[in-house]
Amino acid sequence: MVTVEDMAIFCKKKGFVYQNSEIYGGMAGFFDYGPLGVELKKNIKDSWWKLHVQDRDDIVGIDGSIITHPSVWVASGHVSNFEDLMLECSKCSDKIRADVFIEEKLDIAADGMNADEINKIVDDNKLVCPKCKSNFNKVEAFNLMFRTNVGPKIDKESIAYLRPETAQLMFVDFKQIVESSRLKLPFGIAQIGKAFRNEISPRNFLFRCREFEQMEIEYFIHPDDKNKCPYIKEVLDHEILIYSADMQEKKQKTEGKLMKIKDALDKGIIKTKWHGYWLATEHKWFISLGAKAENFRIRQHISTEKSHYALDTWDLEYKFPFGWKELQGMANRTDFDLQQHIKHSKKDLSLFDEEKKEKVVPHVVAEPSQGVDRAFLVILFDVYEDDKKRGNIVLKLDPKIAPVKVGIFPLANKLKDDSREVYNLLKSKFICQFDTSGSVGRRYARADEIGIPYCITFDFDSLKDKSVTIRNRDDTKQVRVKIDDLQEILDKLINKEVQFSNIS
Ligand code: GAP
Repeated sequence: MVTVEDMAIFCKKKGFVYQNSEIYGGMAGFFDYGPLGVELKKNIKDSWWKLHVQDRDDIVGIDGSIITHPSVWVASGHVSNFEDLMLECSKCSDKIRADVFIEEKLDIAADGMNADEINKIVDDNKLVCPKCKSNFNKVEAFNLMFRTNVGPKIDKESIAYLRPETAQLMFVDFKQIVESSRLKLPFGIAQIGKAFRNEISPRNFLFRCREFEQMEIEYFIHPDDKNKCPYIKEVLDHEILIYSADMQEKKQKTEGKLMKIKDALDKGIIKTKWHGYWLATEHKWFISLGAKAENFRIRQHISTEKSHYALDTWDLEYKFPFGWKELQGMANRTDFDLQQHIKHSKKDLSLFDEEKKEKVVPHVVAEPSQGVDRAFLVILFDVYEDDKKRGNIVLKLDPKIAPVKVGIFPLANKLKDDSREVYNLLKSKFICQFDTSGSVGRRYARADEIGIPYCITFDFDSLKDKSVTIRNRDDTKQVRVKIDDLQEILDKLINKEVQFSNIS
């Protein structure tokens, strides 16, 4: 697998992602998406929104603001608790995130350790500053919230925060959303948007940034209905690598066990049908975008790592070149957030359950919380192939999410005008690239490298037979088709209504 450093170089070269403000030396943890990156990211978000919101009648979407009333973050606990432990060098003052440093140095899970445990590990293992090799000061807590001031007066009263997650808006607007959309339990509220965290050690390219995007769902149920999941049949036979809390606590030498969701539920490893349903659904979504099923697993949080409000938390993890890491978090948050907002706002956020004829504060049985940037990175890792035979990189992106769908190449300069007509015919329907420079081989290679699934060559015969050649990126096979049929054929290919081998 390509390293994360090489992936960052590739993304910059091809116009997927750049380091932010590079001409001024760059800003750690901030990235800009380039012309291809913006399209790919949009396609990933659109696919998520379609599957999770538009194709369902139990989930509605919102788009909340980035800055909200600061009381929101007091109620949610972020102002007092959203912190990581930080190690500071006693000599050069370099600061690093303690748990990540320990995990990297000693290969032990340190997420959720308290300050005493971290200090002991640092002392016992004589860990020193990676920059200047001096000792660390005692570990300190660092709050990750980005602060700003709202309005012209810069004082304590005007302090506000950039949201560190999109989730809270779904709780704060809960009552209005339920009433305006006439929602009945079970239902979900979804949102895609920016989130900001002042990470101590942003690293691994898009994996840990200070500004990123999330796609989140809060899925609400009646607290008595944890196992009444009407969709569970869709996923019972779905197989996924499972790394339970028990396996971790017994320090079993395994990456997990491949199991069906049905068996994990029967054995009580996954505690609720809803959690099983959402974990499998998220895995299936990645596979539908061309990711490799075997590079994913679900890992249950061990007791010391779980947030105080969570009944059970699982992460969908991906095997990155730098190890198994969280791709998506999925906590059973119970009614913690709604109760906190009821307490702090003094507003009634309960709803009347028509079926049970009672007032209830619903529970969030699962909160699928996916980082867009991490999803983007995972897709790139899984479709990136260094094809030695072709002598170039091939991005085997699913045509649905490929940033450019069709390349159009005239075989000779004299054919430019005629082939441009083909480009004009297609460009209102698909994102196309008209490429006239270099040999056709070079043009195919350039197209492969940015994942264009279908390339069309216009040759001298095209003038006579009104046909062109389509080349399939993944196996380089070619087929001749009438220009009149091109739009329909490409549409079917991109939407997987027909296979390339079946076009004659
Ligand atoms: N509302 C729950 C929540 O925010 P989280 O586990 O802190 O949970 C959810 O974040 C997801 O957001 C992560 O699984 C990851 O995909 C993404 N994410 C979190 N912090 C990130 C960061 N600093 N950079 C990029 N993505 C991040």
